[in-house]
Amino acid sequence: MKTDYLRVSVTDRCNLRCVYCHPMGGCNLIDRKEILKLEEIHRIVELFSYCGIRKVRLTGGEPLIRRNIVYLIEKLSGIEGIEELSITTNGVLLASLAQELKDAGLQRVNISVDSIDRKSYKEITGFDLLPKVTKGIYKALEVGLKPVKINSVIIKGINVSQILPLAEMSIHLPVAVRFIEYCPTSQYTKPASDYMPNHELRKVIEREFGPVSIVFTGAANGPASYFKIRNAVGTIGFINGRSSMFCHDCNRLRLTSDGKIKPCLYSSQYHDIKKLIRDNADDEHILRLFEKILYEKNKYTKLSSSASEFDMQKVGG
Ligand code: 5AD
Ligand code: SF4
Repeated sequence: MKTDYLRVSVTDRCNLRCVYCHPMGGCNLIDRKEILKLEEIHRIVELFSYCGIRKVRLTGGEPLIRRNIVYLIEKLSGIEGIEELSITTNGVLLASLAQELKDAGLQRVNISVDSIDRKSYKEITGFDLLPKVTKGIYKALEVGLKPVKINSVIIKGINVSQILPLAEMSIHLPVAVRFIEYCPTSQYTKPASDYMPNHELRKVIEREFGPVSIVFTGAANGPASYFKIRNAVGTIGFINGRSSMFCHDCNRLRLTSDGKIKPCLYSSQYHDIKKLIRDNADDEHILRLFEKILYEKNKYTKLSSSASEFDMQKVGG
């Protein structure tokens, strides 16, 4: 599969503390001077666009807390080869920024919402901010960001009660509610036994709303399958990160906030692009490295059960 997708983590910081993401014992934050500057991110994306990268997604931590994020979107949307610019956010700051982001050239948005019950949202994220997130979802739709997708991670003992309310959002709103299988990332987050496979989720949803119809499944749009509940305006999606492997469909590279290119989320392999840039490497030198990374990518995307530990917050999911 052609690698044309780059996920860029613009910060390792976040304004929430989700139980499954933020290491419970606290997190070693990256020193600020080690975080890529906006100009450095722009240069890396521009050079990648010469090598066939067409889609860019900004992630975090929480990307909207990065200072001058609107300016970064504006700069990236000006790069000729980049056809699709999107962001994955927890939505807390979205209501206030959606219009500016849209005007700067942002096209799509994924919003992480694991509960639409205010009390359980606070339990999961540590903050009583659901009303702000809900406003953010409506604002994203209103300003014309498209598609608007909702990312939900369901964990046993935490938010199983939210499966139906979340799925129901897709009946009334033109959004895609995507259930992402929980993937334990380090010894500080929730254990693997709390994982709920998507085929079980689907059963729960069909028991309540009746059989769902297939919208599409397969690789072309990432490792997700999409379905529609009867008479729904939106869709529901299942992202089977754990119950089925999808390395052969993987078309993405990751750039961490401290300037490392990771060809695979589950591999400890990386290339320190920040060091090259700060050592004044010229464009040709960097382009040669990028070509090599793209060429070799498939060799490293071997998802094994002994995957190394990592913080989702640093690599951006
Ligand atoms: N397992 C599965 N999904 C996760 N995310 C963050 N941490 C995990 C995890 N351990 C999700 C977030 C966000 C997306 C980028 O990844 O909910 O929506
Ligand atoms: Fe922040 Fe997203 Fe991690 Fe939650 S899952 S703590 S919103 S980075």
